[in-house]
Amino acid sequence: MRNSVKKAVFPVGGMGTRFLPATKALPKEMLPIVDKPLIQYAVEEAASAGIEEFIFVTGRGKTAIEDHFDQSSELVNLLRKRNKSNELNNIINSMPKPGAVAYTRQQEPLGLGHAIWCARNLIGEDTFAVLLADDIFMSKKSCLKQMIDQYDGTGGMVAVEEIEGEEISSYGVLDVDYKELKKIKIKGLVEKPIFKEAPSKYAVVGRYILTPKIFEYLDKQIKGTGDEIQLTDALSWTAKHEDYFGLKIEGERFDCGSKVGYLRANIAFAIDRDDLSNDILNYLRTFI
Ligand code: UTP
Repeated sequence: MRNSVKKAVFPVGGMGTRFLPATKALPKEMLPIVDKPLIQYAVEEAASAGIEEFIFVTGRGKTAIEDHFDQSSELVNLLRKRNKSNELNNIINSMPKPGAVAYTRQQEPLGLGHAIWCARNLIGEDTFAVLLADDIFMSKKSCLKQMIDQYDGTGGMVAVEEIEGEEISSYGVLDVDYKELKKIKIKGLVEKPIFKEAPSKYAVVGRYILTPKIFEYLDKQIKGTGDEIQLTDALSWTAKHEDYFGLKIEGERFDCGSKVGYLRANIAFAIDRDDLSNDILNYLRTFI
């Protein structure tokens, strides 16, 4: 059993129906924010937080993700010939080390909990991170790094955001045991509660540090909200057996699983880039 977090799971088996027709043949996780696919933001965040093994839970129609993290010799040769050293370095640096990536398939998209369960043999007895590519963060310190810096090597942790109003019903929500500064001890969790019944304002967002204990619940294949095998239910059970904490994340999160969140992320990340900022801001000013 290893308590330092060196493995990460990237569940990318979902259908991405909110982005049809774009996602009919293209994986949602390959949609770009400016010029980089969502999944690459997540992989870079994991690598910079110390992750060494990258486990993708894919599904049908997701081979573009495997190709993206593979070497394209033709492209490398072409960029070399044209002296495009920046682009060449970007391509080379974005590739995980040989043997660091593993792929397994979720044969049917039965829910996020089921996707994580599909990685159980690759996880074994290790504590592991989960990153949902849909959520990307703009922050001084990356979301996963904030979590790993606060993680004491026992139990698990989820990233949380305080959500005001009825929007809380779109999330997995914490039932709070007690709070200590940025950390919130979890008593339980509820998936997509009715607004008036939400146990708190703390919503789980797409980063997790999990223990293999969670597979004991997921092994039972119990369906929850939306007739899906929910990670939230598995977390709620695990938090009753081990210490699980929510960590309030500093920075801005973009929910790129929704159209508005995705478009906002493109604008914010473009404005953050020296080569694009002026042009984008000038264009946006024409609307005001
Ligand atoms: P979402 O809940 O956003 O579902 O999944 P989705 O299918 O991707 O998108 P919509 O709602 O139809 O538009 C959150 C993350 O969990 C993964 C998705 O790929 C996404 O990264 N996921 C979801 C799976 O890997 N398998 C599943 O069965 C469900």
